Amino acid sequence: MVHVRVMIIFDKQDMSIKKGGLFRPPYFPLSGQISVDSLEHILSNATYGADPIVGKILEGYTRLDPSVGITNCRVILVSAYGTQVLLHPSSPFVLIWLFLPLSIIRGLPVKYNADRKPGGVNLLLVTGGAGYIGSHVVLGLLDQGREVLVIDNLSRGHRELAGKAVFEEADIRDLSQTGKIFRKYPIDGVLHFAALSLVEDSMSDPHSYFRNNIGGTMNIITSMLESDIDRIVFSSSAAVYGEPRALPVKEEAPKIPTNPYGETKLFIESMLRRSFEAYGTRSVSLRYFNAAGADPLCRTGEDHSPETHLIPIALDVVMGRKEELKIFGNDYPTHDGTCVRDYVHVADLADAHIRALEGMEKGTLACEAFNLGNGKGFSVLEIVSAVRSVTGIGFPLRFAPRRAGDPAVLVASSDRAERELSWKRRYKDMDEIIETAWKWHQKRFRPRRRY
Ligand SMILES: NC(=O)c1ccc[n+]([C@@H]2O[C@H](COP(=O)([O-])OP(=O)(O)OC[C@H]3O[C@@H](n4cnc5c(N)ncnc54)[C@H](O)[C@@H]3O)[C@@H](O)[C@H]2O)c1
Repeated sequence: MVHVRVMIIFDKQDMSIKKGGLFRPPYFPLSGQISVDSLEHILSNATYGADPIVGKILEGYTRLDPSVGITNCRVILVSAYGTQVLLHPSSPFVLIWLFLPLSIIRGLPVKYNADRKPGGVNLLLVTGGAGYIGSHVVLGLLDQGREVLVIDNLSRGHRELAGKAVFEEADIRDLSQTGKIFRKYPIDGVLHFAALSLVEDSMSDPHSYFRNNIGGTMNIITSMLESDIDRIVFSSSAAVYGEPRALPVKEEAPKIPTNPYGETKLFIESMLRRSFEAYGTRSVSLRYFNAAGADPLCRTGEDHSPETHLIPIALDVVMGRKEELKIFGNDYPTHDGTCVRDYVHVADLADAHIRALEGMEKGTLACEAFNLGNGKGFSVLEIVSAVRSVTGIGFPLRFAPRRAGDPAVLVASSDRAERELSWKRRYKDMDEIIETAWKWHQKRFRPRRRY
C-alpha cells in the first residue's frame, strides 16, 4: 500500500464544492473532479482529532492540492494547518491514489510553504484576534480570501468575535504554547494584538503588564525565529509619546511614556527594531490613537470588560447599562474645556494593518512605525453631542476632576501612513463613526430600559 500526503487548502474565493456537487480542485492531478459524496465517505471513515477540516470541507470551503510527497503505507490527509486525518485503508480515495504515477505527485509544486515563498498559502496568525481591533483585522483578512489563525486566551476577548478564523485558545505568556502553535501551523506572518491595555491598571499592577505584553511578545518573537517567520505587524499605541510637546504628533516626536502600558509598547518596538537589525525580522509598528466604531456590516465591534472608552460608555448610558457619563475635567485649555482626542475608525485601522502586511510581503517595508489617527481632534463634549444626535437620546452627564496624566489634546499626524502605506481613511465624519458603533451596540447588548 502507498502513503499519500495530501494538502487541503482553504480558500474562500474558490468555493467550488457544494454538497452533492462536484469538486474541481485546481491542482488535482486526476480528471480534476471528485464527487463530494466520495469525500464525505472518506471523511466518515476517517479517524481524526478535533479539527475544523471536516466542517470546512462539508461547508465547501476547500480545494485540494496533492503536494507534499509520498512515504509508505497509509493515506494521510494533511490540512493546511498541519492536522492529520488518517483515512481508512479501504477508502476508495486510497485506490484513486494507488493508480497515480508517483512521479506526477512528487513533481507537483508545493503550494504552501515550508520555505514560505510568495504565491504560497498565506496563513496569518492573529494574536488577540478575539478582541476588538484584532477581530476587525481578522474579518478584513478573511474578506480578502486569506487564511487566518487566531490565538487568544480569552482573558478580554470573545471567541465568537474571531468568526470563521481557525481558533486556538492559547496564552502568549507560555512559550511552550506559542511554540506548539508555530510548529503545528504553516504560519507566514503575524499580526500581534494580544496585550493588556488599561492605563490605570498598568499603574497599579505594572508587573502583569510587563509579563503579558513584553514577556508575551518575547515568546512570539522567539517562536517566529524558531520557525523562520520574518514578518510581524504590531499594535503599538499613542501611549508611547506620553504628553506630546507639539501637535499633531509625528512619528519622530520624543517618546516619553507616562505609564507602564506605554512603556511596554515602546520597549516592544525597540525589541522589534533589534530583531530586524540582528535577524532580519521585518516589522511594522502601528501607533494608534483612539480606535472607535464597529464593522459596518455589524459582524464584530467593541465589547470590553471593563469598558474604559468614551463612545461605548456613552452608548451604555444611552441604553441604560450605566447610570451616567462621567467627564474627567472641564477646565482644560481647549475650546470647551474638555479633553480633545483623535478617534480613528476600526475598519480604517484594519485596512492599515493589511497594507502594512502587504508592504512587507512586497518588500517595500522593512522595519517601520506609523501613526494612525483621524487627523482631527474631537472634544469629549463634541463626542457627547454626536452620540446624542446619532441615537436621538439625551443622557445624564457628570463632571469629575481631571485624571492625572491626561494631556489636554492628543491628535496624530498620519501623513506618513497616508504617503507610505497609501492609507486613506473612509470614516472621517464622527456621526458616521458613531453610527457603526451604535448599530453594533444595539445588536450586542440588550437594552435594560425602554428608550
Ligand atoms: N483600543 C484602542 O483604542 C487601542 C489604542 C491603541 C493601541 N491599542 C492596542 O491594540 C491592541 C488591541 O486592542 P483592543 O482594544 O482590541 O484590546 P482587546 O482587549 O479587545 O483585545 C486584546 C485581545 O488580546 C487577548 N490577550 C491578552 N493577553 C493575552 C495573552 N497573554 N495571550 C493570548 N491572548 C491575550 C485578549 O483576550 C483580547 O482578546 C492592544 O495591543 C492594545 O494595546 C488599542
